[in-house]
Amino acid sequence: MDTIVKKIEDVNDEGAVYEQAGEILKKGGLVAFPTETVYGLGGDALNPKASGKIYAAKGRPSDNPLIVHICDVDALNELCVDIPESAWRLAEKFWPGPMTLILKKSAIVPKETTGGLDTVAVRLPNHPVALSLIRKSGVYIAAPSANTSGKPSPTIAEHVIHDLSGKIDMIIDGGEVGIGIESTIIDLTGEEPVILRPGYITPAMVKDIVGEIGFDKAILCENKDKGFVPKAPGMKYKHYAPSGDLMIVEGNMEDVVDKINLMVKNKCNAGAKCGVIATAQTCDLYECDNIRVVGDRNDELTISKGLYRTLREFDELDIQYIFAESFSGDEFGTSIMNRLLKAAGYNIISV
Ligand code: TXA
Ligand code: MG
Repeated sequence: MDTIVKKIEDVNDEGAVYEQAGEILKKGGLVAFPTETVYGLGGDALNPKASGKIYAAKGRPSDNPLIVHICDVDALNELCVDIPESAWRLAEKFWPGPMTLILKKSAIVPKETTGGLDTVAVRLPNHPVALSLIRKSGVYIAAPSANTSGKPSPTIAEHVIHDLSGKIDMIIDGGEVGIGIESTIIDLTGEEPVILRPGYITPAMVKDIVGEIGFDKAILCENKDKGFVPKAPGMKYKHYAPSGDLMIVEGNMEDVVDKINLMVKNKCNAGAKCGVIATAQTCDLYECDNIRVVGDRNDELTISKGLYRTLREFDELDIQYIFAESFSGDEFGTSIMNRLLKAAGYNIISV
């Protein structure tokens, strides 16, 4: 199929692009669009056939449920039942924004969209293009990240074009996203709220609103070694992975730089193509042909925003060995590290 690509020049312009995209969605087709976190691959959440197409286009396992995107909070009453008070409080504080709530689903949400579960993931995104698309189409939009399953999520339209061109009806290019890693997922179906996937909204921010919370133990360790099965089905799959072998080095910055330089030298001498994920603070200290500045340590958002783009750039260059600095730090740093660890298959050394 030919994929239509439409660029939004002015994000506040409610132009014809949304009418065309809305028609496609209403007919059960697929439209990729930007959100503040990553690009999403959208289909009509209440149309089981559209959900089926999403799984097929991404090559995604069908037990991995989709997030339903809404444009006003009242939609919760239609999509969910037994909504706890905490949901309304979190929604008021963080929506529109990078937070997804897991709630009990109502009868109108098909099991094809929820991967067979009785619960549904709902998010009200904070991006003018996403909001216009949902509002103008009149459709609740089921949207996973718009990447081929297992690959880093897309942060610019070019990533979506690379992965899904020819497989979906339309791509709306709204420029680079603002956050760059996926939303924080909070499960509200149990005794206490539980964070299933870390993101820009940190545990401390959630605690401020709802009090005690749990943290899915599978998030920061390698599941298969520790025996934890993550409650968000998608978190159990290998994810965000570049084609090359990625290793993270943590420790005192000087030692990290020395160690990475040594490993690059050894691999290059053996004829391999290497890359380094550096920061604005360290990029001049490396000796390597392919150094990428992921962001600035003084502004974590630049790092989250640059992470997937950097991983994809190394893929384009056919880099065989990628060495990355570590980004643990405050709470948002933990969310970034969660993605980097998964991308590296938990391949991390301390120096
Ligand atoms: O920022 C985001 O959340 C982006 C943008 C496009 O909104 N979307 C996104 O979707 O990251 P996706 O499909 O890549 O990740 C959805 C995650 C998966 O890990 C999935 O297993 C989990 O949400 N999930 C969805 N519904 C769930 C449910 N009912 N119970 C538990 N986990 C659920
Ligand atoms: Mg995804």
